[in-house]
Amino acid sequence: MSSPLARIAQVPPAIVDAELPAPDDGSQRVRLRFLPDGADVRVPSGTPVFDAASWNGIAIDSTCGGHGTCKKCKVRVVSGDVPVGSVDPRAFTAEELLDGWRLACRANARGDLVIEVPPLQTRPKAALAGVGRHVILRPAVQKRHLVLAEPSLEDQRSDLQRVLDGLEDLEPKASLELLRSLGSTLREAAFDVTAVVCDEELIDVEPGDTTARRYAIAFDVGTTTVVATLLDLESGQPVAVGSMLNRQQPYGADVITRISATMLDHEALGELRERAHETLAQLTAEVCAEGEVEPREVYEVTVCGNVTMIQLVLGIDPEPLSMAPFVVSTHSMPPVSASDLGVEVHPRAPAFVFPSLGAYVGGDIVAGLLATGLTRDRRLRLFIDVGTNSEIALGSNERVLATAAPAGPAFEAAQIKCGMRAADGAIEGVKIEGDSLALQVIADVEPVGICGSGLVDAVAELVHCGLIDHSGRFMAEDVAAELHPGLSSRLTMIGKERVFVLHWHGEDPESSVYLSQRDVRELQFAKASIATGWRILMGELGVGPKDVAQVLLAGSFGAYLTPLSAVRIGLVPDLALPRIVSAGNMAGEGAKIAALSSRERAEAHSILREVEYVELSGRADFNDMFIDQLAFPG
Ligand code: FES
Repeated sequence: MSSPLARIAQVPPAIVDAELPAPDDGSQRVRLRFLPDGADVRVPSGTPVFDAASWNGIAIDSTCGGHGTCKKCKVRVVSGDVPVGSVDPRAFTAEELLDGWRLACRANARGDLVIEVPPLQTRPKAALAGVGRHVILRPAVQKRHLVLAEPSLEDQRSDLQRVLDGLEDLEPKASLELLRSLGSTLREAAFDVTAVVCDEELIDVEPGDTTARRYAIAFDVGTTTVVATLLDLESGQPVAVGSMLNRQQPYGADVITRISATMLDHEALGELRERAHETLAQLTAEVCAEGEVEPREVYEVTVCGNVTMIQLVLGIDPEPLSMAPFVVSTHSMPPVSASDLGVEVHPRAPAFVFPSLGAYVGGDIVAGLLATGLTRDRRLRLFIDVGTNSEIALGSNERVLATAAPAGPAFEAAQIKCGMRAADGAIEGVKIEGDSLALQVIADVEPVGICGSGLVDAVAELVHCGLIDHSGRFMAEDVAAELHPGLSSRLTMIGKERVFVLHWHGEDPESSVYLSQRDVRELQFAKASIATGWRILMGELGVGPKDVAQVLLAGSFGAYLTPLSAVRIGLVPDLALPRIVSAGNMAGEGAKIAALSSRERAEAHSILREVEYVELSGRADFNDMFIDQLAFPG
């Protein structure tokens, strides 16, 4: 077998590039077609072929995770130009190189390519996450079991160098803290150790072989609820999931009140930070206990949240977020450790904090876009995270636009007369068929109020059956009696306001659960704001509602909305219902994906570069469009 040097010598020098080229800034896109299955993907110029394949669920052999050492990621460039990289000659003969064979992890796509992927020799580990995304496991946390030669007078390499030499392809940095215990760990373990590397950092050297156990926690820090998922990085599976109310609640239910609290009281920022840390610490303890995992075995955390939550968790003054021109402290955080978040896991565990697009399109939305794969899909898709501040993104792998639409508290049923959180006794679904009205109530108990999804359903059904007209007004009693004699008695007055009683408590409408005329108006404002948002994005992209292949309703509220009701009130484009998907907590899914794959995580930063933010406030066309959207579809 010829030596690597001999192989290099056989290759025409012009096509060897000594260094792996730096990735481009991603502003150009290139098209890659993968054979034999013909998958066609578009990625930023400079993306390694390996990443482009992995992002699109196309598995290429690898055991080194794309570090250029296993030489298993062999692909053939059938058409297009990829220079021979410095590692390629060690993997291929000169003939193979001339025939287009390259290591996919070293091959940066700087033009359109057709790539042949040979059948897999090994089955890569993968997990399903996001909207049916097939995520190939490649966590930033890597473990290597090392049985090292003991030092001698002939071999006086330093302890650290001995470990680094054992790591071969990885060249992590080590901290002073690690060095303090390195010597004793090596000797006590008779130089039989496991190195733990996260990205570029050697975060620990553990005695013996611990490679089977490595964990991460993905946090979704919501204004109301915080969710933690403990992930087994070996299998890609969640081991335990916990959620609890954000302990910042006493400072206000929404981001604006919490920011106001910091402006009124200098102590409040520290207290809010402390409460966020308590929340994360409690969840960490809970999921580790449930998963029977030592906190020290959690080597990394990933965190997504809206910008205010992230700034508060990190103790960054949020005041500029609350007033024009709405400026974030930074789009991408400098290195953050788990301990900066009050999370007690491995003492040197880093934290990956999702970058944010703007003050009101935060890391939670970047995580959501990552989970949906919106920026890489050929189909035109509309993503709506429904909430007080609703974030909207529209696009495909060609171009993606995003905006934030202030929808007010209607969807959370705040300021709704009989509104309540989605808790026991809340009406969450309403169905009207002919003259019969059926309610779906959480926990199947007597209704005590109505939550956001119940509100949307009730209004959608009343519009559909004709008891609310398209301008949002309740029908006159005589018309209602003619249309639905069995329901018209529910349409009554409380004081001077018309209401529709959903559930009677006795004969008094005021003590019953009802929908008021003002509630309908609140919902109209909320849905008009969102519909105006996506219509403006469509105008900017030059597309219409019928061009949209799929609508993804995300967020804790979006998960409970029924697609039919969303269409009936005009919250989403009028598409065939299977094309409207209640996608659930996409932000949390994005945080999990980031923990499972460092390649996917890099995509979060591409999203930051690629997605164009459209500011709605101050737009001349906003008001007219908003007024048009107040009506319910006819
Ligand atoms: S993935 Fe191991 S060498 Fe490319």
